[in-house]
Amino acid sequence: MKKAIYTIAACALMGATAASNAISINAASANPVTPDKVKIVDGEIKSPLTNKPGNAADGRNWFANRKLGNCLACHANQDMSKKPFHGEIGPAVDAVATRYSPAQLRAILVNAKSVFGDQTIMPGFYTTDAGQRIAKKFKGKTILNGQQVEDIIAYLMTLKK
Ligand code: HEC
Repeated sequence: MKKAIYTIAACALMGATAASNAISINAASANPVTPDKVKIVDGEIKSPLTNKPGNAADGRNWFANRKLGNCLACHANQDMSKKPFHGEIGPAVDAVATRYSPAQLRAILVNAKSVFGDQTIMPGFYTTDAGQRIAKKFKGKTILNGQQVEDIIAYLMTLKK
């Protein structure tokens, strides 16, 4: 009887893996603009990277997530005053929506070098040429997917003061 339960548990686990595989396939197809096809013109990327509008609540999570955006490690953010370890390597993002348009933020996030120059230490989040400081595991991959970039733009656009 115990054995049967283990088998069911194993099947459930396999089911879960199959489901998460399906999710990653969906995520890929939700990225119509692949990193090599993104065009930055005059510090702007006018069209969104995905068909689905960015979700600000998700973007807020990616901003603070140490394994994804990790933006907070370099950018202080009053909206996250309860979270520890705000970095001060880059400018604070308070009221960033009053300084940049979504098209400009998209260019900064996709490839900060294209906006701030080669010497910037801000990583490129949707380019395969992300910069010298990038962890080995990200070489040849993008740190964020297109949807996560759009989510973070939506979040940054809520920071008006
Ligand atoms: C390793 C540090 C680092 C990380 C991580 C980082 N940035 Fe930056 N960022 C910078 C620096 C430094 C600048 C200033 C440009 C320069 O001088 O290179 C900057 C500039 C910016 C600007 C323009 C700010 C202004 O007021 O002019 C925005 C917006 C921005 N970053 C957003 C983000 C977001 C969103 C993330 C996470 C997805 C992020 N950054 C991750 C270092 C970082």
